[in-house]
This record gives sequence, C-alpha cells and structure tokens, in this order.
Amino acid sequence: MSRTVYNTATSLDGFIATEDHSLDWLFAADGGEALGETEDFIRGAGAMVSGASTYEWILRHEGDKPWPYESPCWVLTHRDLPRVEGDIRFASADTDQELRDLHARVVESARGRDVWLVGGGRIAADLARLGLLDEVVVSIAPVTLGSGAPLLAGRVDLRVLDVYRAGDFACARYEVVRS
Ligand SMILES: NC(=O)c1ccc[n+]([C@@H]2O[C@H](COP(=O)([O-])OP(=O)(O)OC[C@H]3O[C@@H](n4cnc5c(N)ncnc54)[C@H](OP(=O)(O)O)[C@@H]3O)[C@@H](O)[C@H]2O)c1
Repeated sequence: MSRTVYNTATSLDGFIATEDHSLDWLFAADGGEALGETEDFIRGAGAMVSGASTYEWILRHEGDKPWPYESPCWVLTHRDLPRVEGDIRFASADTDQELRDLHARVVESARGRDVWLVGGGRIAADLARLGLLDEVVVSIAPVTLGSGAPLLAGRVDLRVLDVYRAGDFACARYEVVRS
C-alpha cells in the first residue's frame, strides 16, 4: 500500500528555506552516516511531488547535471517551467477535488511504492487537510531562520512514531492524525 510521506529537512523554527529560497543553513549542518535512512526512503519512493519553487531550486542546484531521480516527478505549477530530461509531469490543482484527482494519479504512478512529497508546506498542509498525507518525517537542523518558506502552511495534527539523531540533526517521524 502506497503511503504519501512528506520527508524534508527543516530549521528548528519550522522553515524549509529562507525567504530567498536559500538552503545554505541546511548544508552547513552535518547529517553524518545516519541520514542514510532518508536516502533509503528517497531511493525507494515510486513517485515524487514538488511545488514549483522546490523544482526550480533543484534545477538551480543541479546545474547542468542530469535530473537526479528516476521515478515520476509531479511538479505543481501554473507556469511554463523549463523541462529537463527525465520523467517530469507538470500539473496544477486549484480546487480540493482537483487535488484529490491529482493525488490519485500520483499514487497510481508510484505503482505500489511510497509517494515522496518533496516540498513545500502549502501542498503538504492541503494534502493533510484532505486526508491524503500519511506521514511527516523531519530532519531538524540546529538553526533558527526567523522567517522563510513554512514547513507546514496550516494546522496539521500529528502523532509521533519515532525520534532519532542523525549527526547534527534531530529527526522525527509522525503519522498524520485524520479528523
Ligand atoms: N529543507 C528542505 O529539505 C527542502 C525540501 C524541499 C523544498 N525546500 C525549499 O523550500 C522552498 C519551498 O518553496 P515554497 O514554499 O514556495 O513551496 P513550493 O511548493 O516549492 O512552491 C510553491 C509554488 O508551487 C506552485 N503550486 C503550489 N501548489 C500548487 C497547486 N495546487 N497547483 C498549481 N501550482 C501550485 C505555485 O507556483 P506557480 O503558481 O508560480 O507556478 C506556488 O507558488 C523552496 O526554496 C525549496 O527549494 C527545502
């Protein structure tokens, strides 16, 4: 059974990027060997979902390197973003029903494996509100940012499943509580 999992790194005060979409603070922290659990999850995921800003960050970060993922990557956007070599599927969802329909297509494309929600926080909160997000996994970097792109842009009730340390990061895995 495919789970939809928001697996991300965050600052202690709940931001996944600075206002200007920098992740320098994240790469300044040392994940050590133990972040392997996150890498295993990413390798095993059958499909990815990404907002436009997150996709643009990956393009900037990867430069001219080939697209780093094999599984289908669904990019939510209203714009005509650059397309790179790889299984990139642009889509938009402006109503709850459109988001439900899109999520069903994403899950189908994952062929029984998990769906990795890469970012961002608005999509995660919307999926949770609709009962379509199963887990949130956070690697908390030892830094506060004060402002930036929110981890979750809305209330989401969670139940902790696991906590562990990975180098400089405090990590936690939560189940989303459905109301
Ligand atoms: N710390 C980490 O591990 C981590 C992980 C992932 C991402 N990040 C970073 O966090 C930041 C996230 O940026 P963000 O908060 O702006 O979130 P985002 O979800 O990456 O991008 C938001 C944009 O996605 C598009 N979008 C979102 N929902 C949509 C929908 N339902 N239908 C159509 N388009 C939709 C819209 O763009 P348009 O309407 O303009 O197309 C929206 O402005 C980025 O800088 C990213 O690099 C960090």
